[in-house]
Amino acid sequence: MKKYLVDDTEYAVRVEGTGPILLFAHGFPFDSHLFDAAIERLKDDFCCVAPDLRGFGRTKLGANGHNPHGAPRVKMGRYADDLAILVSEIACQRHDKPAKIILCGLSMGGYVALAFARRRPERLAGFVFCDSNATADTPEKAQERVALADSITSLQIPDLADRMIPGLLAPETLRKRPDVVSELREMISRQSPEAIAAGARGMAKRSDSTETLGQIEAPALVLGGESDALSPPALLDSVAAAMPNATRVTIPNSGHLPPLENPDAFANAILEWRNANVKY
Ligand code: MLT
Repeated sequence: MKKYLVDDTEYAVRVEGTGPILLFAHGFPFDSHLFDAAIERLKDDFCCVAPDLRGFGRTKLGANGHNPHGAPRVKMGRYADDLAILVSEIACQRHDKPAKIILCGLSMGGYVALAFARRRPERLAGFVFCDSNATADTPEKAQERVALADSITSLQIPDLADRMIPGLLAPETLRKRPDVVSELREMISRQSPEAIAAGARGMAKRSDSTETLGQIEAPALVLGGESDALSPPALLDSVAAAMPNATRVTIPNSGHLPPLENPDAFANAILEWRNANVKY
């Protein structure tokens, strides 16, 4: 992992491979290791950049990871601004000008990617939207997230992992891939309560981004696991239909987390789409 100073914190980032930048934004409550297996398959074609988002993994939350009352909270726009600073820094080191990137956001990372697309459309050579959605939370869902943020402690995180995992993975992953199940359980369990509270409060505050979908001119790839119960195929079909320039691919043998559950199909979908659609 490399370290980059981003605003008021140091980002821990996996940077691997050569080629144009493919920047990954992970979901909640995970870290950059979500993309490890996919990066192994993509690093000959891209410079893969996979940060631990503010507070998660080895990146500290920082003073700007709190709301004005001092409670942990990171809005999606804050994560997006961090990513913009980070890729500028990496591109500058590599002498890339202009630093056009492909941005791949999964689930919460998709919300972050939409915020990035609003702020920095000129930086996007391509946009990969994976197992996510563009709507805001319902009031009930937002309330549930705030309740989680208000109550989460270190001791409860393994229980949170056990509660979440059945909804995150495909039934066949749960049955046949104990390695994936335990990798995911460990990834969730090593996150801090502050990171979880900050992400949950940030997601609860996010606005509806449906209009943004129609404004993304860069070629887009909308990916989703065929058994994703959280962002099901029909929802992702409608996301792709709302974008001017989207390719839609469903990943077999996967639930909400294709880079973990079926990294071959995830990586191949990105490569095939890139080869046919993305120009720098
Ligand atoms: C994620 O995987 O990032 C979460 O499912 C996002 C969410 O809770 O909306």
